Amino acid sequence: MSEKIAVYPGSFDPVTYGHLDIIRRGLSVFDHIIVAVLNNSRKDPLFTVNERVSLLKTATEGLGSVSVDSFDGLLMDYVHKKNVKIVLRGLRAISDFEYELQIASINKSLNPEIETCFMMTSNRFSFLSSSMVKEVAKYGGSVHDLVPEAVEQAIKQKYSAGGHGL
Ligand code: PNS
Repeated sequence: MSEKIAVYPGSFDPVTYGHLDIIRRGLSVFDHIIVAVLNNSRKDPLFTVNERVSLLKTATEGLGSVSVDSFDGLLMDYVHKKNVKIVLRGLRAISDFEYELQIASINKSLNPEIETCFMMTSNRFSFLSSSMVKEVAKYGGSVHDLVPEAVEQAIKQKYSAGGHGL
């Protein structure tokens, strides 16, 4: 039987324990997960794509069969290039649903062969987002329980160097 591979796309600006929860649990369903960092976001990111990839590589070390990559342009083109048929996304609160439905529907119309598979984020991470982490850190709050150590240090450095992205 062929390997079940999923692409887990996102901005990951930066990776949080919520993302890692999805990756860790995703590995009980899929043989391999490709974490794909979007490089052409309209958002004003705090971290460069290379920094986000590097933080993800550190954070996913030892988790299992995970690779980290970045992509430009349409997710469906990237998934096709990688010959993968499944996109993995995490769903937190109800507020995510409409946004995710929109993305999944557009992707389905672009390539009907690709399935988007949703995994509910564990309750304790259901209100955690990269934006919230950045806001807390920006105003001096502790993000220790929200992101891995390396990410916490990297955010501190960014804001002490005058980083502005939220
Ligand atoms: O972490 P995010 O920002 O919620 O991730 C959104 C992402 C990267 C999955 C989505 O914006 C995306 O796939 N963008 C690539 C461009 C694309 O394919 N657009 C059409 C579907 S929205």
